[in-house]
Order: sequence, then structure tokens, then C-alpha cells
Amino acid sequence: MFSYRHAFHAGNHADVLKHMVLIAIMRHLAQKDTALTVFDTHAGAGLYRLDGDYAETSGEAAEGFLRLIAAKPLPNALAPVIQDYLDLVASFNTAGSHKIYPGSPFIVQSLLRERDKLKLFELHPTDAKTLSANVAQLAAGRQVAVLREDGFEGLKKFLPPPARRALVLSDPSYEIKTDYARVVAMVADSLTRFATGTYAVWYPLIPRPEAHDVPRKLKTLAAKAGKAWLNASLTVKSSKLTANDAGEVIRPGLPASGMFVINPPHTLKAALGLALPQLAKLLGQDKHATSTLESAA
Ligand SMILES: C[S@@+](CC[C@H](N)C(=O)[O-])C[C@H]1O[C@@H](n2cnc3c(N)ncnc32)[C@H](O)[C@@H]1O
Repeated sequence: MFSYRHAFHAGNHADVLKHMVLIAIMRHLAQKDTALTVFDTHAGAGLYRLDGDYAETSGEAAEGFLRLIAAKPLPNALAPVIQDYLDLVASFNTAGSHKIYPGSPFIVQSLLRERDKLKLFELHPTDAKTLSANVAQLAAGRQVAVLREDGFEGLKKFLPPPARRALVLSDPSYEIKTDYARVVAMVADSLTRFATGTYAVWYPLIPRPEAHDVPRKLKTLAAKAGKAWLNASLTVKSSKLTANDAGEVIRPGLPASGMFVINPPHTLKAALGLALPQLAKLLGQDKHATSTLESAA
């Protein structure tokens, strides 16, 4: 079974990028009256404690969300989408505390209108159980469904959604090498079922070819389908292995990641154009920190 548990990583720099983009997309989609269905193919546990055992073991939020908070930017100095992200996370906490970090299911749920629906896939038995318990607390009734199923496969039966408006977030752990190919295959299949949906795929930027294949293949898919796309990446440090004084190899941890969006809101590029350089500056750990933003209409 899987060893990946998102609780170790909650609030890290990859979550900052992913959740900021997710909120920006949701805000835009919520402007239109028609009901929206949001699919989260890899949902995780939904809510995390930043002071809990898991988070403290790796402390990754310290280099992500908590680092942004600690930077104490001046009022109005942050790009609106970063501020919106910080405000939304703050809404899960009592004033001034940063103990709770919402995962994608809770971020999305907090932005739904009454007529919208959220379908959450989570395969890990423990995380699926925690997610179900967390979702039950919301008393959201039929609006939010937790499915203990493979998200890559499970999505198929829901596309196209009844009102023909949907956002699909796909955030695999890439713990299994086949996730790289499966996420691309899932988007390819989904575009044939429902070409006008918005698809947002998170991917790690690490020195292995499969990781770099994800945005490359998604670009080809979008271009072939004649769909607009946007690709945003954030690098916080070098990906090079280093050695300590004892000559042991030190792995740098995740240095960078990206979000690839097919059929993005037309406002997203400008919003991220302001935000990404700020994130690279605030979260950057060495001179390799940078961001990229590319798109095609
Ligand atoms: C990166 S985490 C998700 C984090 C979440 N999207 C967030 O932003 O808060 C990936 C999750 O996918 C789950 N998972 C792995 N393979 C899966 C599959 N094939 N279908 C559904 N869930 C899967 C893992 O157990 C893990 O909880």
C-alpha cells in the first residue's frame, strides 16, 4: 500500500502554489451562475494540523505557508491572489494562530455555492477515513461526496457533468512511477468526454524525465484538442545533491513544482504574473529560486 501521507507535506511550497492557483480558478468559476462540479481526483485527508506529529516530523510548512506568514509583508504589498490564499487559510484558524491547514477538499468546499457539487477521490484507507470524518463535520449533505476509489478511473463515470461546468483538480502523489503517465492519460480521456472542462494538474519538478514529460505531454494534448493552457512553476532551491561534512549525500527535498491548467480562466495569467515572482522571492532558499509562466490561447 502507499506510504505517501500528505500530512507530512501540508502547507509546503508546492501546496502554496497549488492552493493559490486553485483558489484563483475557483473564484473565477464561481462568477457564473450555472452549477459547477469540482472533482478532486487525489483528495488527501482534507484538513491538517500544522502542530501535529506528522507535520512536525518534516516541518515542510515552515518553508512554505508559515514562511509567507513570517515574512510579514506590508499591507497591500502582496499580489491579490497570494493575499486571497493567506486570508482563506486564516479563515480556518482563530485570529493569529496557524494550527490548521486546509487541504484542497476544504479549500474548494469553502468556495462552493449551494448549487455546486464536490466529488473527492481518496484511495488510502486511513486518509479516506479521516477525510470522510472531516467532511461529515461540515454537514454538507449530498453536496460533498467522498469516494474511496482510484481517482484516475473513477472520474470517467462523471464526465460530462450534468450542467456541463466542471473543474478537475488532479494532484497525485507520484509515489508510484506510473502516476506520471496515468495523469496524462486521464486528461486525454477526459478531454474526449468533456472538452470544455477546466483541468488543473499539479506535478513535481525533479530531476527525472517522467516529471518533465507531464507538462510537455499536456501541452501537446491541449494543442491537439485546440484548447488554451497555462503552465506555472515555482522553484525554491537547487535540485542538486550535496554532501555533509561526513561525506553523506544530502537530498535537497522537493525543489520545485508546477501547475498545468487546461481551459484556464482568462484572468489567471495576469494574476499569476504578479504573484509568482513574489512567491519566488519570499519562499526562495538559494539563488536558484525562480518562477515561470507560459500559456497558449
Ligand atoms: C498529494 S496528496 C493530495 C493532497 C490534496 N490534493 C491537497 O491539496 O490537500 C495525494 C493523495 O492521493 C492519494 N492517492 C494515491 N493514489 C491515488 C489514486 N489512484 N486515487 C485516489 N487517491 C490516490 C494519496 O493517498 C494521497 O492522500
